[in-house]
Amino acid sequence: MGKSSKDKRDAYYRLAKEQNWRARSAFKLIQLDEQFDLFSFQEPHKCTRVVDLCAAPGSWSQVLSRVLIKGESFGRRAWMEKMQRLVDEVKLAEKMERNEDAELSEEMSKINLDEEKPTLQPRPNVKIVAIDLQPMAPLEGIIQLQADITHPSTVGRMLSALNPEKSEADYDLVDLVISDGAPDVTGLHDLDIHIQSQLLYSALTLAIRVLRPGGKFVAKIFRGKDVDLIYAQLKLLFRRVHIAKPRSSRASSIEAFVVCEDYTPIEGWTPDLGRPVDVPRPATTMTEEEIEALPEQTRTVREDGTVELTFPRREARKLHKDNRWIAPFLACGDLDAYDADATYKLPEGHVSLDPVQPPTAPPYKEAIEKRRTEGGMYGKTKNREGTPS
Ligand SMILES: C[S@@+](CC[C@H](N)C(=O)[O-])C[C@H]1O[C@@H](n2cnc3c(N)ncnc32)[C@H](O)[C@@H]1O
Repeated sequence: MGKSSKDKRDAYYRLAKEQNWRARSAFKLIQLDEQFDLFSFQEPHKCTRVVDLCAAPGSWSQVLSRVLIKGESFGRRAWMEKMQRLVDEVKLAEKMERNEDAELSEEMSKINLDEEKPTLQPRPNVKIVAIDLQPMAPLEGIIQLQADITHPSTVGRMLSALNPEKSEADYDLVDLVISDGAPDVTGLHDLDIHIQSQLLYSALTLAIRVLRPGGKFVAKIFRGKDVDLIYAQLKLLFRRVHIAKPRSSRASSIEAFVVCEDYTPIEGWTPDLGRPVDVPRPATTMTEEEIEALPEQTRTVREDGTVELTFPRREARKLHKDNRWIAPFLACGDLDAYDADATYKLPEGHVSLDPVQPPTAPPYKEAIEKRRTEGGMYGKTKNREGTPS
């Protein structure tokens, strides 16, 4: 497939190159932040310390670096600013209708100013650690570790990267752990889903070692047959668990993201990567009478106007009966955002750009080198005289 046709078929691939992101995944994190305010600026949820697991080639780390270190405006903040501009424009239009000329020119200059110069809001004391099996090209302000998140030694390496020169008793915890971990898919769905879930458990184990109470955990998940069991396990550790699908993630893919908020540690329990995550807490301690007394349905209107429905009695019954629980599903990303499954007409005069950061050590590198030097299955078929046909 030519570069231009890939640009056409995948709007996020094209946008990533135009906006200088190393991978189109950047948009997934930005759209998750739009919905869940992952990089909150407000206390007590303020976000300054983050671990990015399975981070290569580094587009999520780029988002972290640009939002937290440089203080640029993306995701939730950009969306709020956009909404504010819309409100300002409506007010302005109303004033124009009323012919309030004196105030008008002042208001107009304010709107233009905001659009041209979104103010940078860098945060103090930011710490970001990125971990991946693959080497990653350096990124400003990001501490990088090349490590396997399923290996027990990674816990110690991560802790000392986060807290150099500190003893375990003085470790500073982190506000957010994100994991975009994906195995090289085999096409055998059950196997892929199983390996993916093991990556998620490893990410969770690392997260529990460093998250502060109230912290957030976001991880890629493949929505397979028994995924509700994972949701139930996450619900034991976090007060709110959602399953989210950003618009930049293809609807045709089983990929989604668990967004877990408000971490509540289990006293006396420290998981380690040598053992599977076996949470020592019954899924629910409620009696049947207590469950029956729960409301059938609750309806909450969130700050941004989203209406959230929950079904406490039905959920508690499910947890009580077979330790299963269905996380509420949220599609996220502005409705104006590109649809990841649609093909778009390219803008006039479109020039296809090269990827921002080619992989530093892709697994296919050796095959490409062999193809260059050898023929046969690695390159063009040779004719009898030995020259490529
Ligand atoms: C989809 S990519 C991540 C993209 C990244 N979030 C970004 O925005 O550029 C998945 C990554 O998971 C990494 N990975 C898979 N298994 C891993 C493991 N056991 N330990 C560490 N990284 C792993 C792969 O090396 C790959 O770089």
